[in-house]
Amino acid sequence: GFSWKLKDHPKLPKGKTIAVVVLDGWGEATPNEYNCIHVADTPTMDSLKKVAPERWRLVRAHGTAVGLPTDDDMGNSEVGHNALGAGRIYAQGAKLVDIALETGKIYEGEGFKYIKECFENGTLHLIGLLSDGGVHSRLDQLQLLLKGASEHGAKRIRVHILTDGRDVLDGTSVGFVETLENDLAKLREKGIDARIASGGGRMYVTMDRYENDWDVVKRGWDAQVLGEAPHKFKSAVEAVKKLREIPNTNDQYLPPFVIVDDNGKAVGPIVDGDAVVTFNFRADRMVMIAKALEYKEFDKFDRVRFPKIHYAGMLQYDGELKLPSHYLVSPPEIERTSGEYLVHNGIRTFACSETVKFGHVTFFWNGNRSGYFNPEMEEYVEIPSDSGITFNVQPKMKALEIGEKAREAILSRKFDQVRVNLPNGDMVGHTGDIQATIVACKAADDAVKMILDAIEQVGGIYVVTADHGNAEDMVKRNKKGEPLLDKNGNIQILTSHTLQPVPIAIGGPGLAPSVRFRQDIPNGGLANVAATVMNLHGFEAPDDYEPTLIEVVDK
Ligand code: 3PG
Ligand code: CO
Repeated sequence: GFSWKLKDHPKLPKGKTIAVVVLDGWGEATPNEYNCIHVADTPTMDSLKKVAPERWRLVRAHGTAVGLPTDDDMGNSEVGHNALGAGRIYAQGAKLVDIALETGKIYEGEGFKYIKECFENGTLHLIGLLSDGGVHSRLDQLQLLLKGASEHGAKRIRVHILTDGRDVLDGTSVGFVETLENDLAKLREKGIDARIASGGGRMYVTMDRYENDWDVVKRGWDAQVLGEAPHKFKSAVEAVKKLREIPNTNDQYLPPFVIVDDNGKAVGPIVDGDAVVTFNFRADRMVMIAKALEYKEFDKFDRVRFPKIHYAGMLQYDGELKLPSHYLVSPPEIERTSGEYLVHNGIRTFACSETVKFGHVTFFWNGNRSGYFNPEMEEYVEIPSDSGITFNVQPKMKALEIGEKAREAILSRKFDQVRVNLPNGDMVGHTGDIQATIVACKAADDAVKMILDAIEQVGGIYVVTADHGNAEDMVKRNKKGEPLLDKNGNIQILTSHTLQPVPIAIGGPGLAPSVRFRQDIPNGGLANVAATVMNLHGFEAPDDYEPTLIEVVDK
């Protein structure tokens, strides 16, 4: 029968304090002026590199190594932390939705049947991120869903778009809206009343995460459900073009707008009897809107109206909360994560980040599951993020506060594993502000130093790695790797993640001199880290985990 008990590692001892540090958005790339990690003063991370290949190496953090459809898919935090925590590679949401659409299984599932009940008398609303970034959603999936839903009886469709500019280049939204308008026009030719109803930039409307700022969700609610927004337009293409002209506005931060008819009336508020689908597959930035759409009891903001709808997510976004209760595609069944195993084997765990990444080292790490496995064994600490700012304004973010909390947790000796995420490289990298990203990288490096110093004091072990690339390349490149220029001769800033591998370093006074990275896993990826960490805690990993990156050599 199944047992949570892990076998003892034949050579490695138990009882060491282990710091697991994840630098968000910290990849390895050729050193040049657009590599903010290279330009920044990062003595701690640089020093770790000096012990390559024995104790520093690169691991894959994108594409099929983390369960994404192809190796052209950049890494992201959801799949990265899932792999780090679960120790196995799961086909992720993006891929599962592809398969469900390709086979048509999506239309046979319980979720689609549930929303279909409204097609006769109600409107089908589709809410989600409009881009081909492939991190939270994909345009081609939306296109297939529109086609499939109309073929399965949807007669009136309203799309509520969220513009991107974060997983794709800023300014690309206009093109995506044009493509969508084109598709909707074709549906109208077939007699389906299909239109865009509202919109807004993803960072300002709807897609907040980890309850950082409910106002973001409220702005979306007002536009999508109530049909109210400060900006009204007759066409979404015009809306995006005009709103982008507002100073300091970009695709990520477009204000909310609604599309109105000739009488100035919103064309698509959500009302009783309608069906709603949130078409993002990724969880973190859908949990809050899912709560607003689904929960009868709700006090995060005044919804004014709570329409009686049939709501389904593209996926179920939270396995513990079972949220939403209806969904079109079943999420990956990530189970027996390393966190759960370790807690069952007596490892006391501390996890910490600031709000914008808190769920990454808890929820994503634990297989998209919120809460503790065992509150007596675990403590999760969230440091409130600055809200209402873009992080280029405060590039140090809460790095030192996270470092301090980790230091305290390590020195307290109350924990066996102290796990943190340092968000700077990623969150500031996404703003596209190169100078600020350089400051951000230094701040993350400073925090790493605090943690390594504490590990030194307690005789512990550190594992320092990252979830995917971002700050190491801030310019869009052609196939040859040369920076691309826009029509004004300026470089095209890359706000998104990258395809780059990430570093992993191990060390600390508690690490036996005989431990080093094996050389027989050249293609190792993030999923190999869990077994590695289990070994360092003195355990063998379960048989079906991806193999450990380390070996113990006789010296
Ligand atoms: C976001 O949600 O902020 C970006 O789309 C992806 O960033 P993350 O994967 O690093 O969270
Ligand atoms: Co990111």
